[in-house]
Amino acid sequence: MKYFIQNLPKAELHLHIEGTLEPELMFRLAKKNSIKIPYKSVENVKKAYEFDSLQSFLDIYYAGASVLKTKEDFYDLTMAYLLKCKEQNILHVEIFFDPQTHTNRGIAFGTVIEGVVGALNNAQERFGITSFLIMSFLRHLSEEEAIKTLMESLPYKHFIKGVGLDSSELGNPPSKFQKVFQMAQNAGFKCVAHAGEEGDSSYIKEALDLLHVSRIDHGVRCEEDKQLMQRLKDDQIPLTMCPLSNLKLKVVDDLKNYNLKRLLDFGLLVTANSDDPAYFGGYLNENYEAIAKSLNLSKDDIRTLAINSFKASFLDKEVKDKYIEKICQYQM
Ligand code: ADE
Ligand code: ZN
Repeated sequence: MKYFIQNLPKAELHLHIEGTLEPELMFRLAKKNSIKIPYKSVENVKKAYEFDSLQSFLDIYYAGASVLKTKEDFYDLTMAYLLKCKEQNILHVEIFFDPQTHTNRGIAFGTVIEGVVGALNNAQERFGITSFLIMSFLRHLSEEEAIKTLMESLPYKHFIKGVGLDSSELGNPPSKFQKVFQMAQNAGFKCVAHAGEEGDSSYIKEALDLLHVSRIDHGVRCEEDKQLMQRLKDDQIPLTMCPLSNLKLKVVDDLKNYNLKRLLDFGLLVTANSDDPAYFGGYLNENYEAIAKSLNLSKDDIRTLAINSFKASFLDKEVKDKYIEKICQYQM
């Protein structure tokens, strides 16, 4: 199964670039930029990655991101992830970045995006990996701040495919961001949102009804609402699920109890993704391997997840069809 997964062409649709910051790079950048981090060694950092909730992770994740300062830092971060993609046979990626995490500590929007886009372009030329960027608003901050970020992004609009919503879900429902999502949609951005990770199924419904999103990031808690389940199925609204993330943040107690296979069998357009691989112990292939084992997935289930990853992407139909044909032809 490991080799089947390794060589299978895949897309990744739920990946925070700040969540790919490996401890080794964190240390190198902290030293270079003279930034203090509360760890003595790489081993020390790894030991600190014990989480009991989304918030306990976010606190460490935002602190880690503080080592990123220059365009080159963002380039190096992104290129390291893209090299992983090459290694794992990921042919297309849709990457989240959190501009406010950086602009709020004085890093210019342009510094972040120019570094990230430089690496994306380079990887397309060198490895043929295609990509889109999704700018995520931090939901623990105000809608006014999200609007300010949207305005700041407009000179770089040609680099950005869509907008998303992430960070602390509980107490920050999609309804808080109705206006900025409407503005983003009017400006031509695709819309997605994290919903139903820790928040209940009403967050998913709100994301669909009020933010008009075309994908739900996570969506684990959709089963609480049977009508919603039918709607997700009828409209084939993709869920970008993240198994190892959900396990590490205690959204699920054991991957044997994870609902991904049940949702897939019900007919939902489910995809598997890595979320913040440097923090959760695995990139995309390790996520596929973990669920293959825990949920006893067949090769056909795995193939369906890979097909879904392209179906649910923002690629043009002809390009999607080409990738999907490749997966249908894939034998091992
Ligand atoms: N930011 C990075 N990873 C996240 C997650 N899993 N949920 C919400 N916000 C995030
Ligand atoms: Zn996420």
